[in-house]
Amino acid sequence: MSSGLVEAIAVIDQRLLPGELVVRRLETVEAVVDAIATLAVRGANVIGSAGGLGLALGIRQGLDANTTAEQLIAARPTAVNLAVAVNLVLAAHDAGEDPLERALALLAEDTEQTRLIGEFGRAELAGVTTVLTHCNTGRLATTGWGTALGVVYAKQAAGEEIHVIATETRPLRQGARLTAWELHASGVDVALIPDSAAASALAQGRVGAVIVGADRIAANGDTANKIGTRALAVAAHHEGVPFYVAATLNAVDLGTVSGDAIEIEERGAGEMLEGIPVPIPVWNPAFDVTPAHLIAGIITEAGVLKPPFDASLKGAIA
Ligand code: MRU
Repeated sequence: MSSGLVEAIAVIDQRLLPGELVVRRLETVEAVVDAIATLAVRGANVIGSAGGLGLALGIRQGLDANTTAEQLIAARPTAVNLAVAVNLVLAAHDAGEDPLERALALLAEDTEQTRLIGEFGRAELAGVTTVLTHCNTGRLATTGWGTALGVVYAKQAAGEEIHVIATETRPLRQGARLTAWELHASGVDVALIPDSAAASALAQGRVGAVIVGADRIAANGDTANKIGTRALAVAAHHEGVPFYVAATLNAVDLGTVSGDAIEIEERGAGEMLEGIPVPIPVWNPAFDVTPAHLIAGIITEAGVLKPPFDASLKGAIA
């Protein structure tokens, strides 16, 4: 892909993993929006990357930049990384810069930021040999080694002992299909558990720390992440196990004062009624909010932020 001449975006279709590794060429903005909305491309950081490239693609094809940016941002509402990346590429275009160059620079920044998260997290979790994680935050969800999983890979790279308990992550099973698969393929010791077994694993002392990603962090530290994260934080607090969030700072939304103001995406009944041919009413929120007081630290590329998060987040972003 040469600068300014983006013709298509190649993505792994994550819906088909791990059974099939299919790379799709997204040649239109509609295809990018659809890939993000249907979770072919998923994970906060990667949807930001795809959104930025999608805008560069649309501009290249002569579409109106503002309208295209709006369409891309609307593809998924909770992960703020998407809007941040699209708006940065839009601002570059408005300033007369090459939008593709800006989008590609964001990808490279993401890779480096996740490397730093891994290293800061490794230092913070020195001595922790088993972590429990939720959803997928690794090589499929970022352009680098990941946020929460970046810490795992950093420990592995440093030759430290590390075991991972991965929750299945219902209903779309990102933990089972993606996290367990990617860790296993990378030679990391991983055990898959049903979501409902997490509280027992914590109670039985099997977990040294819980570490998850983030889709949006409010100014007070309240954090939106995959549905089920809040229950993990509550259970970890009950058992005295530290609960960490690992995220690039572009997941921080200082314009959102607290978790109550974060829009939570609700997804269709079809994700839950597979194999159930009855039109049962379904509530299927894709994310929940973990209150800041349950979070021991937020591991970022600028270091590990500690409570009170309103001050530490502001300091890290300033
Ligand atoms: O619905 P998904 O699969 O996009 O949800 C992803 C998560 O909740 C991740 O934990 C989050 O995006 C962080 S990925 C670095």
